Amino acid sequence: MPEDPPGAIDRLCTDAVRDSPASPYDAWRELSATHPEAVQLGVGFPFTDAFPTEELAAATNEILRKEPEALQYGGSEAADSLPGAIADHVGRRGLAVGADDLIVTGGASRAIDTIADVFLEPGRVVFTEEATFPSAVTYFRDHGAAVAGCALDREGLDVAALGDDLARRERTGEDLPTLLYTIPTFQNPTGTTLPEKRREALLDLATEYDFAILEDDAYGALRYDGESVPPLAAMDRERPGPDRVIHVGTAAKTIAPGVRIGWVIAPEAVSEEIERRHAGAANSFVRSAVARYLAEESFEERVAKLCESYRSRRDHMLEALEGEMPSHIGWTEPDGGFFVWVTLPDGIDAEAMLPTAAAAGVIYMPGSAFYPNEGGENRLRISFSTGSPAETERAVAALARTIESA
Ligand SMILES: Cc1ncc(COP(=O)(O)O)c(C=O)c1O
Repeated sequence: MPEDPPGAIDRLCTDAVRDSPASPYDAWRELSATHPEAVQLGVGFPFTDAFPTEELAAATNEILRKEPEALQYGGSEAADSLPGAIADHVGRRGLAVGADDLIVTGGASRAIDTIADVFLEPGRVVFTEEATFPSAVTYFRDHGAAVAGCALDREGLDVAALGDDLARRERTGEDLPTLLYTIPTFQNPTGTTLPEKRREALLDLATEYDFAILEDDAYGALRYDGESVPPLAAMDRERPGPDRVIHVGTAAKTIAPGVRIGWVIAPEAVSEEIERRHAGAANSFVRSAVARYLAEESFEERVAKLCESYRSRRDHMLEALEGEMPSHIGWTEPDGGFFVWVTLPDGIDAEAMLPTAAAAGVIYMPGSAFYPNEGGENRLRISFSTGSPAETERAVAALARTIESA
C-alpha cells in the first residue's frame, strides 16, 4: 500500500478522533492475532453454542415467506410485537413498563451513543465507574465531554466517595456532572453488584446535585446466585420528583450480539428526543425475525437455560482460581454476568505481562483498558463466558504460572 500522501483525509477528523489515545486494546488485539492457540479470556462474548441458530433460522424463513414487507421501509407487523416481548422481560427484572414506554435500538452501544447525543457536549462532565465499559467512554469523549472516574469497591460504585467528590467539586467550583454512567448489576469489568442501599444513596446524590443517570443493564438478567436487586430506574420511579434514570438493555448477551437489538427506557421528557435520533436505524427485518422467535421461546425460558450454563462456567473458573492462584492474588466472585476481576500485587503491570501470558497459553484484558483516565495497571479482567471447562482450567493454570514468574 502506498503511504498516505501529505494532506491525507485524517487531518480533517475531529479533535476527539485525532486525539484518541493508544489503548491497551491494541496490545490485546495484536497478541490475540499472533497467538490464536492461546485461550481467549479477554472478550465478553456469549459462547457460540448459546445462540438459538435453528430457532432464528425457522423464524427468519417464516418472515421472508409470510411477511416480506419486513424488508421494506416501515417494516412488518411482526416487528410490532418486539417491544411487548422486551417490556415483559424488563418487567421481570422489576421495571414495570408498557410496550409504548420502550425504544428499541441497534444494541446497547447505539443507545448509549444516542443518549450521549442528547446530554453531552464540550464543557460538560460525565462520571463513570473506574473501571468501566470502554466503548461508553469513547462515545462520551466523541461528544467532547470530559470523563471523570468514580472509585469502585467490592460492592460496586463507592457512593460515599462519590458524595465526597461531588461536595468537594461544589465547594471548589469544579464542574459537576451532567450524567453519571453506571453498570450497577454484574458490572463490566468487575462483576460487582451495587446493593439496594447504595442505589438509594446514589439516587439521593443525583437529586441533590442535579445529574441524570444512565443505567446500563447489559448483564442484569444473567443472575446465577443471590437475591435480585431492583434496577435503578425502577427505584427512581418510586421516588417523589421528576425521574432522572435512563435505563438501557440489550439482547446481545441473552439472544446474540449479531442481532443488534437493545432498548432504552427513558423519562418522558427526553424519550421523544432519543427516539427521534434513532428512527432511521430501525433494522425491521431482524426485529421481525427476533420477535417471531420470541413468540416461540420467551426471553425468560432462554435466560433460565443460559443461567444454568453460565453458572457452571462461573463455578468452574472460581474453582480453578482457588486451586491455582498464588496466595497474594485477589479476585471478585460475581453472582452473575460474565466477568472476574483480578487484582495483582502492586508493581506487576498486567499490560506488560500480557505477551508472557499469551506465550504461556492465555489472553486476558489488561485492567488499564477499562480506566477512563490513569490506573488499573495491576488489574485484569477474565471472562468465563466462552471457554470450555478444559480450556478454563488450562488458561487459569497458565495465568497463575505467569503471575508467579512476574
Ligand atoms: C456494559 C456493556 N454495555 C453494553 C455492551 C454492548 O451491548 P450491545 O452489543 O448491545 O451494543 C456491552 C458489551 O460488551 C457491555 O459490556
